[in-house]
Amino acid sequence: MVANTTAPVIAATTALVVANTTALVVANTTAPVVAATTAITTAPGAPRKGSKLPEATRILDTILNNYDHKLRPGIGVRPTVVKVEVSVNSLGPISIMDMEYTIDLIFYQSWYDERLRYNSTFDSLVLNGDMVSQLWIPDTFFRNSKKAVEHTITLPNQMVRIYNDGRVLYTIRMTIDARCSLHMLKFPMDSHSCPLSFSSFSYPESEMIYKWADFNLEMNEKNTWKLLQFDFTGVSNKTEIVKTPAGDFMVMTFFFNVSRRFGYIAIQNYVPSSVTTMLSWVSFWIQRDSAPARTSLGITSVLTMTTLGTFSRKNFPRVSYITVLDFYIAICFVFCFCALMEFAVLNFLTYNRMKAHASPKLRHPPISGARARALARARARQQEEVFVCEIVTEGSDGEEHVSCSVQPLPNPEDVEAPSGRFSGCFKHVRKYFCMGPDCDGPTWNKGRLRIHLFRLDNYSRIVFPVSFLLFNVIYWLVCLNL
Ligand SMILES: *[C@@H]1O[C@H](CO)[C@@H](O)[C@H](O)[C@H]1NC(C)=O
Ligand SMILES: *[C@@H]1O[C@H](CO)[C@@H](O)[C@H](O)[C@H]1NC(C)=O
Repeated sequence: MVANTTAPVIAATTALVVANTTALVVANTTAPVVAATTAITTAPGAPRKGSKLPEATRILDTILNNYDHKLRPGIGVRPTVVKVEVSVNSLGPISIMDMEYTIDLIFYQSWYDERLRYNSTFDSLVLNGDMVSQLWIPDTFFRNSKKAVEHTITLPNQMVRIYNDGRVLYTIRMTIDARCSLHMLKFPMDSHSCPLSFSSFSYPESEMIYKWADFNLEMNEKNTWKLLQFDFTGVSNKTEIVKTPAGDFMVMTFFFNVSRRFGYIAIQNYVPSSVTTMLSWVSFWIQRDSAPARTSLGITSVLTMTTLGTFSRKNFPRVSYITVLDFYIAICFVFCFCALMEFAVLNFLTYNRMKAHASPKLRHPPISGARARALARARARQQEEVFVCEIVTEGSDGEEHVSCSVQPLPNPEDVEAPSGRFSGCFKHVRKYFCMGPDCDGPTWNKGRLRIHLFRLDNYSRIVFPVSFLLFNVIYWLVCLNL
């Protein structure tokens, strides 16, 4: 007897603890009962409290004696009603590449099984996972799960509680990787609704129906930190009947809504793209003869945009459509490309003119002083050409069409100097925009639009930033209201 002392003493302590509560925990169907019986015989100090144990054993024996766990309760009479409740331990992470998310939950199902009614002072019997195989349990499965893990440490994380009125509560903890189709069109302004749907595998709607319990979802929002880039925005539910070749099944679905946090993407993509685009404008302030400086600046910004475009698609599902972010990067790319092209056009024209004027230059003897400078200015003026578009009216029927050509700039002597008190104030404005007949700048008069090709830099300094600003305003207005 001495050698046996430790085990019965532990069992007896368990018995005491159990007897003080209304519920009775039976760890294993057969072994603990034997241990408990030993405890009563060897520990005579608590015969009255321990006397509830044979009662628990008697109850289990009675209800399981003629119990057929293969048959659902109410078979042939009415459908079994299963009430469902979910407690989410943690949500996330969401994998964009695999279009799935992970959820760790405790799943509660409760139903009435008249065969398990008993008369006793116990309100309920709490049994652990080992009892599950001896009772009828709903064959619920998760329809959109890719992988589900049942936790078994230290014992299977399952519990069955049988109430004396025949109600059974079955609880199981699991971790599920579930499919969630992510529509990335609005990336990075996207929000998603990830479903978790479940139904019975074998019992159609006429045999088994699900109902939401009153508090059907318990969720600690502090445990959604694993969503990382996403914010948890709420949960909703849906009940539907799905027709399959095996019958109509009742499918219950939870939707976990998340929306993307914008900061990470902004720092990684939007800021570098817009800064690179702005950098490419520096070229307009560099002299047009510094070809190496301007080309390297242009090519560097184009290449940077290409890299940023590739980078933004890394760790991204290979969707075939253009996302909102791709669009922004594409436009920035176009801006950088146009800045480079602007210099190409300007350089081409300058180079062509220089070649044409090179030979007459050689014939002249070298002149010095103010006369030389005046000559150089005059020559520079001569080099300047204007691109003129005219609306020409032709024929008797007054048919109009636009004809464009490159013409030499009118001689300054031919044009009257601007007069009046506004002349000084308009001097700068006239460079870009002029309405009067006396302007030597780009002119829109008598149906003519004049653009100085050699002043492309001057136009670009205004046109590029203004159009980029406009694009940004429209882009963000549209995106934030999407
Ligand atoms: C979750 O998203 C779905 C689908 O977009 C929507 O119908 C539902 O109202 C949303 N629920 C919450 C709580 O935001
Ligand atoms: C689920 O649906 C039921 C009934 O439509 C509603 O009472 C309950 O609040 C919903 N639960 C959640 C978490 O949205």
